[in-house]
Amino acid sequence: MSDFLDDGRAALEWIDDYLGRVGELPVLAQVAPGDIRAALPASPPEQGEPFAAVLRDLDEVLMPGMTHWQHPRYFAYFATSASRPGILAELLAAALNPVAILWRTSPASTELEALACDWVAQLLGLPDGWHGHIEDTASTSTMAAMIAARHATGRHVVVCSEHAHSAADKGARMLGMELRKVPADAEFRMRPDAMDLSDAAIVIPTVGTTGPGSVDPVPAIADACERTGTWLHVDAAYAGSAMVCPEFRWAFDGVERADSLVVNAHKWMLTPMDCSLLWTSRPEEFRAAFSMVPEFLRTPDAEDALSLSEYGPALGRRFRSLKLWAILRCYGRDGLQRMIREHVRLAEVFEGWVRDEPGWELCAPRHFSLVCFRRDGADEENAAILERVNASGEIFISHTRLDGRYVLRLAVGSERTSEADVRRAWDVIRGS
Ligand SMILES: Cc1ncc(COP(=O)(O)O)c(C=O)c1O
Repeated sequence: MSDFLDDGRAALEWIDDYLGRVGELPVLAQVAPGDIRAALPASPPEQGEPFAAVLRDLDEVLMPGMTHWQHPRYFAYFATSASRPGILAELLAAALNPVAILWRTSPASTELEALACDWVAQLLGLPDGWHGHIEDTASTSTMAAMIAARHATGRHVVVCSEHAHSAADKGARMLGMELRKVPADAEFRMRPDAMDLSDAAIVIPTVGTTGPGSVDPVPAIADACERTGTWLHVDAAYAGSAMVCPEFRWAFDGVERADSLVVNAHKWMLTPMDCSLLWTSRPEEFRAAFSMVPEFLRTPDAEDALSLSEYGPALGRRFRSLKLWAILRCYGRDGLQRMIREHVRLAEVFEGWVRDEPGWELCAPRHFSLVCFRRDGADEENAAILERVNASGEIFISHTRLDGRYVLRLAVGSERTSEADVRRAWDVIRGS
């Protein structure tokens, strides 16, 4: 079907054009809830349409409803980039469409997944021999760790800091486990002295918390885990990629003692959604918790073969490793380090501008590429700044609450962000 090649060329040209001009589009979608649905037919077509009609409606109907995560002035939540090698590899993965329910249904994707996780482990300086696999999101990875921990310990209590991601709360609720929040110190780090692990199945310190970007004291928490037999799961979903640079490894001290660790390649490793890397130093505990092999999945090669569905919740697993492997090959250690260093440098530059500007304050120590700041004044004034700048379509930032105060967050994470973009953000925020 030669239409396929024509449509494929058109789609690739569309992507190339989009990535070239995304910086000219309003970063935050300028639509109201329901607008996009109202612009689409309520029912599917009776007869098939050409693919060109899909591309046309993408442009005309869907694009106004896109918030552009690929935009150079996307600074909200944790900014990210889907890199070109990652985009192309996603296309190839969709063409092959393996469903890796067990090794023989996709030996290559299974083995490439294990290899890609090993490669990233080497780049991040993790201990040799950890078992890695890929989940869709950190929410799933952390829930999988909770399940393994509950299975291994026979306990039902989850402990994390008041600044842990809500994925911990949600996982505990879904699993019917009891969640205990530990207060943080003045730098938003979990306080080991205020933590009771005596009956805890799992404790979840975070390196690079979502709100303030703080670093929990993993070594002290690991000591407590050793005393109480608690599972140590480190959430480095955002900041974990920074381990590729030796100068940021200090923040990950103690991670080598973890029972499990999550790092999202789809956050700060140039990988299109979704790709959450989950390693464990105790793979047999994961396997004991998750392995479920009914008759129809029994194969003679099972003894020697790795089936990654035995280490997590999903049976059907997509070929996520192809995009990660493509990125590791096309960027190398050097390319990843350069990106991380540049993002941290840009955050540092922005931080300096805030520090030097009367009437503005920094609200949390900055360790990576996230700056927390606010205008001296009422919460309402800061909330109004957020609404104003986001409505401008020029930049997109988000907020959090620290010490009870409304705080603005600017996170650098897009491959396309330059110093001029960060400068523009500061000008828009100051209203100049
Ligand atoms: C520290 C941390 N953990 C977990 C998550 C949840 O990630 P996901 O959206 O992959 O579930 C996030 C998301 O920003 C995060 O920052």
